[in-house]
Amino acid sequence: MKSVLFSRFFILLPWILIVIIMLDVDTRRPAPPLTPRPYLSPYAGGRGAARLPLRRGGPGRGREQRNESRPPPPPPPEPPLPTIYAITPTYSRPVQKAELTRLANTFRQVAQLHWILVEDAAARSELVSRFLARAGLPSTHLHVPTPRRYKRPGLPRATEQRNAGLAWLRQRHGHQRAQPGVLFFADDDNTYSLELFQEMRTTRKVSVWPVGLVGGRRYERPLVENGKVVGWYTGWRADRPFAIDMAGFAVSLQVILSNPKAVFKRRGSQPGMQESDFLKQITTVEELEPKASNCTKVLVWHTRTEKVNLANEPKYHLDAVTIEV
Ligand code: UGA
Ligand code: MN
Repeated sequence: MKSVLFSRFFILLPWILIVIIMLDVDTRRPAPPLTPRPYLSPYAGGRGAARLPLRRGGPGRGREQRNESRPPPPPPPEPPLPTIYAITPTYSRPVQKAELTRLANTFRQVAQLHWILVEDAAARSELVSRFLARAGLPSTHLHVPTPRRYKRPGLPRATEQRNAGLAWLRQRHGHQRAQPGVLFFADDDNTYSLELFQEMRTTRKVSVWPVGLVGGRRYERPLVENGKVVGWYTGWRADRPFAIDMAGFAVSLQVILSNPKAVFKRRGSQPGMQESDFLKQITTVEELEPKASNCTKVLVWHTRTEKVNLANEPKYHLDAVTIEV
C-alpha cells in the first residue's frame, strides 16, 4: 500500500512542479494597466513627466519579448520637445495678481514652457517682479508703456507689449539656428486647458483652433474641409481675412525668425483687426494647420474678469499694515 502511494507520488511530482513553474512565470508578467494613460502626457506633463508614449508596439509583441533572456533594446532617443513661448501683456489693476496667479497655475503644469511677461508700464513693477520670482517658471520679464494717446477705449490693446515680446524672441534666437519652438499670445485673463498646449506644440508654421466665448457667440472657429481652413464661423466682422481672436493661433519660432519685420501695427490698424494684420504678414489661409480635432473642440476661452467693486475701500483710517493684493 505504502509503495503504491509512493510510486503515484513520484509519477505526479514532475507534473506538479511543471504546473508550479508555469503559474510562477505567468504571475511575473506585468498586469495590463487598469486605466488608460491620462491624456496630459506626453506633452502637458510637468518637469520630469513622461514625454512620449512609453510603448509604440501592440501588447502582443511586448509579451513575447519579455520572456526572452536578453533585455529589450533601449528606446530610440526622443526628439527635443519644442519650447512653448507664451507672450502675456499685462497691466496694473486690482485684479492683476489674481489673473497672473491663475495663469501661472496653468503654465506650471506645462512642460518646457517659457513665459514672456510684458508689463504695460514705464518700469518693471515690484508686484510682478516678486510674483515672477516665486512663480517657479522659466520666464522673462519685460516692460514697455503704451503711449498715452493709444490708451483709449476702442483702440487695440497691448500692441507695444506683444511687439516687445517678439523683439526679445528674435534677439535671443537671432544668431543661432532656431531651436524648435512655438509662440502664442496668452492674454492674462483668458482660460486655457492643458490640452491646448499639447495641440499647439506640434505647430509646423501657423496653427489655429476654436476660441470659446468670443465674437458675440458661444465660440468662433475656423471652418475646415479636407484638413484645410476654408472659412470662419464668427459672429463679428466675418469679412476679416483671419476672423480669429488672439487666443486662437500659434506660430512656430522659425516663422517668427524668418519674417523679422512681422509686427503688430498701430498705424491703420482698426479695432479687432490686429490678429488679421499680423497673420497676413506671415501666412495665408490655405497654409493654416487646423488643431483641436479639425477645429471642433474648444480648448481656450476668452473669459473677461468683472471689474471689481471697491466702493467701500476706505479713504481714511486705512489698515495698519500694507498688504499686497
Ligand atoms: C480682445 C482680444 O482678445 C485681445 O487679444 C486684444 O488685444 C484686445 O481685444 C484688443 O482690443 O486689442 P479683450 O479681452 O477685449 O481682448 O482685451 P484685454 O483682455 O483687456 O487686453 C488684452 C491683453 O492686453 C491682456 O493681457 C491685458 O492685460 C493687456 N492690456 C490691456 C495691457 O497690457 N494694457 C492695457 O491697457 C490693456
Ligand atoms: Mn481679455
